[in-house]
Amino acid sequence: MMKKTKRTLITEETSLFHFKMKIEEKIQVKKALIEGELKKILNRYKGGLADSMKYSVFSGGKRFRPILVLCAGESFGCDCITALPFACAIELIHNYSLIHDDLPAMDDDDFRRGKLSCHKAYGEDVAILAGDALLTLAFEILSQASAGSGTLGKKIKAIEEISRSAGLSGMVGGQYLDIKASIEDLNREDYSSLVKKKTGSLISAAVRTGALLGQASPDDLEAVSMYAENLGFAFQIRDDILDSYEDIRDGKPFSPNEVFFSGRDSARKKLFTYVNSAVKALDEKSIASDELRYLALKLLEVRKHNGE
Ligand code: IPE
Ligand code: IPE
Ligand code: MG
Ligand code: MG
Ligand code: MG
Repeated sequence: MMKKTKRTLITEETSLFHFKMKIEEKIQVKKALIEGELKKILNRYKGGLADSMKYSVFSGGKRFRPILVLCAGESFGCDCITALPFACAIELIHNYSLIHDDLPAMDDDDFRRGKLSCHKAYGEDVAILAGDALLTLAFEILSQASAGSGTLGKKIKAIEEISRSAGLSGMVGGQYLDIKASIEDLNREDYSSLVKKKTGSLISAAVRTGALLGQASPDDLEAVSMYAENLGFAFQIRDDILDSYEDIRDGKPFSPNEVFFSGRDSARKKLFTYVNSAVKALDEKSIASDELRYLALKLLEVRKHNGE
């Protein structure tokens, strides 16, 4: 093999940097679209309950799931404007799930995204209703969404996907398992199906919705589902590693999580394995989306503030 000169390496590094920046830029454009549409949706409403909903939705979420909808859609020929209401609906459902997740009867968390959680800022009663209203608003938005260049059948399939993944057999079912699980009794297998439901299902719905709205073949759909399944596990492990650095639980018990099970080092190794499998699933079927690959690889950036 030819020995690389220092000059070639610098050039390669520079083009890698530009490549990364280009993908990052495309993702930021999508994020801005989502932000604008969410504002349009929620700013139609005024009053105390609407304020509590806006407080939660506009408190700095990463918009990971709606970005996935737009990226997956684009890689199968669905334009961002058609996919946007579906993306926003999933983000509204996600935000409702977080408001309820923080309630005293669930995780009892006083803070979310570095700010007071919804029930701390507005009271428990209002927070419950804010969650309810965000969930129903999501389905209002879905019912109003245009099928764009796709068919009505595709739109209905996407709505079915989102409903199933948000409810009993998806996120809500997973949250139930999470609150009922006792750390001592939970085996690995049960823990995996808990995570697959509570976190994986909405992430899978996001990716699959984009693909369903586009021209994905059954084979493509299988590949992106495999990508999304691994991405969901990676996403929760990353969240658990980050949570493990935050010593703010005041003696409250942790829900079962990967760091508790295996320790931080092993959790990091698992994170790497899941991210790798996610990317491999796309590679094997030559799914053309650098953005989907990048979003998976970015999950590996998990550092405590001091860089540990
Ligand atoms: C947090 O989700 C809850 C989990 C499923 C781990 P996110 O990390 O996507 O939350 P935001 O919306 O970016 O704050
Ligand atoms: C996922 O789990 C929450 C939902 C599915 C809503 P966590 O309870 O770990 O999420 P965080 O850490 O509170 O964001
Ligand atoms: Mg929880
Ligand atoms: Mg929680
Ligand atoms: Mg967590």
